[in-house]
Amino acid sequence: MEISPHLIAASAQRQIGYVIVGIVLTAMVIYWLFNWLAGRNETGSEIELAANRKPNMTDEEMETKRLDLSLTGGLVTLTIIAIALPLYWLGEPGRHDGLIEFTDGQFVRQGEELFAENCAQCHGSANGEGGIAADYAIVDGNGVFVEQVDWKAPSLAAVLDRFSYDEVKYILNYGRSNSPMPAWGAPGGGPMTDQQVDKVIAYLAHEQQSSEDIAKGVLDGLDGAARAKAEADDPATANAMYSLRNEITHLNADLGRLAADSAEAAALSAEIEVLQAEHDALDDALAAAGVAVRAAADTDQIVMGELLFNNPASSGAYGCARCHSAGWSIDANSYSDNPLIPPIVNGGGGFGPSLSGVADQFETAADQTSFVTSGSKNGIAYGAFGQGDGGGQMPGFGACWAEDNAILPRIQSDRIAGHCDGRSGILTTEQIEAIVAYERSVD
Ligand code: HEC
Ligand code: HEC
Repeated sequence: MEISPHLIAASAQRQIGYVIVGIVLTAMVIYWLFNWLAGRNETGSEIELAANRKPNMTDEEMETKRLDLSLTGGLVTLTIIAIALPLYWLGEPGRHDGLIEFTDGQFVRQGEELFAENCAQCHGSANGEGGIAADYAIVDGNGVFVEQVDWKAPSLAAVLDRFSYDEVKYILNYGRSNSPMPAWGAPGGGPMTDQQVDKVIAYLAHEQQSSEDIAKGVLDGLDGAARAKAEADDPATANAMYSLRNEITHLNADLGRLAADSAEAAALSAEIEVLQAEHDALDDALAAAGVAVRAAADTDQIVMGELLFNNPASSGAYGCARCHSAGWSIDANSYSDNPLIPPIVNGGGGFGPSLSGVADQFETAADQTSFVTSGSKNGIAYGAFGQGDGGGQMPGFGACWAEDNAILPRIQSDRIAGHCDGRSGILTTEQIEAIVAYERSVD
């Protein structure tokens, strides 16, 4: 951690304090020693003078040297007190800030440890690209095993740019139902105390991406989204490719069980090679189609909207599909050989509602744009018949949450001043308008 000037100020003053205490204690010891030695001196016959008595000073001595010395001593002590005390109190606000900064730093560091132990295995690093919840077992409504899948866990590097602090806390407390994201807070039956949850959020706040990185991340995802659209537009080719991929995986497993130099192994290798070539040809065709889709998006608002809706960047952190298209987070289309996993329906509903017929909810595109910009709020009505359904649901994609989140670790409050100037949130208004145009074009 950086050492703040406050902390240095505080420790310098403490050092001066220690020196003064040291001087005073030494002086006391010396005084006592001298006194004790002087008391031992035999000053005369006990009959004339008791052992603990000595001839007193004369009036002349008393009223000149002795008096001056005491008065000067008093004056010096008084001056020291008069100057040192105010000086000491002048440093008090600095020490106060220094302590806050120090404890905030501790809060964030402890949050970092909690994150590394509990979150990183799925979400990757706090300022990174997201990750996957590996080998998550999906079961059907009766608890019967359906498939073991990898489920995208969105990057948390911009989570405070789409949710408020309260909403993030809600998600951490209760988790996301029907997803691998477990409940962490005590209210949801999780293992963390309220303060631990706050520590994790403090750490996340500390690691949030800049506006520029977010804007770049959004655009970087469009190529992947274009490729996915090329597959969705040509399911025959995509299914053929995925079937080949599955078959190759199985055959490779078989190959591993054969003796390496057997004739059977050689035949199987040759077969795999043929299938691989077929697979690669389909893959190349889809890649070329993807490049064409990406190019079209630059001039076609609805295509651009679809790509932004399905944006796979940072494990879906900037897109809509992970909540509004069931199966998107597990690449459901690649399980074409499992009839229990239906293919993805774009905007067909998932954690968030189906967006088909969304024009009934929002009379105008402008109303819908403003909803997507600011997101839902718990219990607050939206559109014609919508109601926000609790924390951490529909994120606000064009809002700046920094001011709502100013209660986050106090260290943040410095950074947050002016933080919303020119900060639009995750998507630009133009991008949100494109998504809305796309949503309204599908029914
Ligand atoms: C077992 C894997 C796993 C672990 C461990 C895990 N998460 Fe998650 N988390 C997920 C997945 C998967 C999602 C997305 C769920 C979905 O698709 O709706 C998610 C979603 C979230 C979201 C919502 C993000 C958004 O934009 O919708 C937040 C915030 C979050 N996790 C924070 C955490 C924190 C903090 C921890 C550690 C205390 C943690 N997660 C641990 C898998 C995990
Ligand atoms: C973290 C999950 C999540 C993500 C990501 C998400 N939504 Fe939503 N969305 C919801 C939920 C949940 C609702 C239902 C309202 C509520 O309870 O907040 C909703 C509601 C909506 C509605 C209103 C639908 C209706 O008929 O009531 C629209 C429109 C919408 N979202 C658009 C989008 C767009 C556009 C994006 C991407 C830019 C997006 N959503 C991303 C979860 C999400």
